[in-house]
Amino acid sequence: MCGIVGYVGTRKVVPILLAGLRKLEYRGYDSAGLVYYQDGALIRQRAQGKLSRLEAAVDHCIGANSTIGLGHTRWATHGAPTEVNAHPHCDCTGELVVVHNGIIENFNALKSGLLARGHRLRSETDTEVLAHLIEEHLETDLVAAVRAALAQVEGSYALAVLWARAPDLLVAARNQSPLVLGVDGDSGYLASDVPALLPYTREVVFLDDGELAVLRRGSFQALQIADGQEVAKKPVSIDWTAAMAEKGGFRHFMLKEIFEQPLTLRNTLSGRVIPDTGAVQLELGIADESLKKLERIALVACGTSWHAALLARYWLEKWVGIPVEVDIASEFRYRRLLLNERVLTVVISQSGETADTLAGLRQAASLGSPVLAICNVVGSTMTREADGVLYTHAGPEIGVASTKAFMSQMTALLLFALYMSQLRGTLPLSGQKRLGLELIGLAETLNRIIDPVRRSVQRIIESYYEARDFLFVGRGLNYPIALEGALKLKEISYIHAEGYAAGELKHGPIALIDPDMPVVALAPQDSSYPKLMSNVQEIKARQGRLIMIGTEGDTQLAELTPDLILLPKADENLLPLLCTIPAQLLAYEIAARRGCDVDQPRNLAKSVTVE
Ligand code: F6R
Repeated sequence: MCGIVGYVGTRKVVPILLAGLRKLEYRGYDSAGLVYYQDGALIRQRAQGKLSRLEAAVDHCIGANSTIGLGHTRWATHGAPTEVNAHPHCDCTGELVVVHNGIIENFNALKSGLLARGHRLRSETDTEVLAHLIEEHLETDLVAAVRAALAQVEGSYALAVLWARAPDLLVAARNQSPLVLGVDGDSGYLASDVPALLPYTREVVFLDDGELAVLRRGSFQALQIADGQEVAKKPVSIDWTAAMAEKGGFRHFMLKEIFEQPLTLRNTLSGRVIPDTGAVQLELGIADESLKKLERIALVACGTSWHAALLARYWLEKWVGIPVEVDIASEFRYRRLLLNERVLTVVISQSGETADTLAGLRQAASLGSPVLAICNVVGSTMTREADGVLYTHAGPEIGVASTKAFMSQMTALLLFALYMSQLRGTLPLSGQKRLGLELIGLAETLNRIIDPVRRSVQRIIESYYEARDFLFVGRGLNYPIALEGALKLKEISYIHAEGYAAGELKHGPIALIDPDMPVVALAPQDSSYPKLMSNVQEIKARQGRLIMIGTEGDTQLAELTPDLILLPKADENLLPLLCTIPAQLLAYEIAARRGCDVDQPRNLAKSVTVE
């Protein structure tokens, strides 16, 4: 949802900006731009399209001696993805530039006022009004001018400003969009997300909403935007390394991240399941006594994270015996919420910054509901605002389509359900510990299956990759995985795909079945298998083309289709984690076969920080 990056220090700035933008490109890739100060003037370069277009355009500037500048990679909200709309945007003088991530909600009113006062705006963006508003307040003090301009602004922003007349400082500010700072020796950095800082430092400072940062060579100061009071900020140590955000020999980040999942699973479990006994220990930051008294749990998330929530409902209801409701965050936030201190709200988010989920968190908290965040990014907004946090420890996920983060969310939610059952005494300890031990073993199983599953998928997709539509069906615990398989396929291959609860087919979607309609059936041998197989027979009877994901040794499947992906036997509660691997690989291999841009699918951004 747009990435911003900035540097001030002693090193040449252009390569640092480009490297930072590379790391942030997943946040938006409609257009990109940068600006730096040199010999009394600002040099601005912008390009429509992927970052590589900007890199080509600035090739001649790589060696520029400038040591201060800003960069931006865009996901369009206001105005088409053109060069004119690309950031950075200037004021009338051309001496002040702004990069911005977010949405200025009162932009129309602000723009009319600026036009009436004689400003000439060149783009269709909301960001450009920021540059002109700051210009109106600017005499000699950039910080004061930024604060005064922001007092007029409604909406979300992470922004950074550079002024040619104060070429030793960057001013940055945040409201509802992420912004992180890093200082290392003489160098000061700012970025929308941590991976852009990892090559330089792992000690980072997260700005909070309503804060402004003044970044100079080797130092920074944080202030409240409203009253200018200084705020003491504590650096946070990040345990991700720069290498974790590289492709490591894989063709795409998504493929690398699919293959990382055995490790992801181990990391999510690490220190939380006692290896000898299988008992689960979690430090959630919410008192066990409160967890014991809960009457209900509300799970809130978007997209893939919502699929993890759907799955968690099965585990929580079955093991803890507590009512669970699951909501898409953009709906949850606008419902009349019947929450109180006896209802735990669990927000699930890879980024910890998704605008709708964050709004859901705030609504829940305002009603007195304790909030637990299940989150991947240390220090992200949700983790700072929730009462408790369960980190998923998936490491940086760069592919826009979520894979290893989903695996880590499922694992964390499974641990949470086991922990709750332990606290409330609702599942026999032996059963709970057996599951804990099986979970530890699952990492090795995943490791063993990824390569053979990929080979099966590669063979199968040769006769399917040109299909126009796909259905994914599953029942029970594998219904959310059918939804996830369909989402993965549509977002990276642009094939229309839908996931259904298999029992629901005959209530409408079965009308779609014909010899051209591939159906992926999730049919591992669990308790819903007999019913699922009846549904598959219905598909077969209508000449649907079946790809089946089933259990090794199941001879019935071969009678239905030659296109089989077989997985080892496992406890049925863990089967969704296994079934996720072929679902992800099907999407990946089809998209790669169709020549799609797997890591940066069109119209998407990794972190959706606007509503
Ligand atoms: C799909 C995908 C998205 C995200 C969704 C929520 O592959 O990645 O559907 O799951 O945008 O993002 P987070 O988890 O960061 O809140």
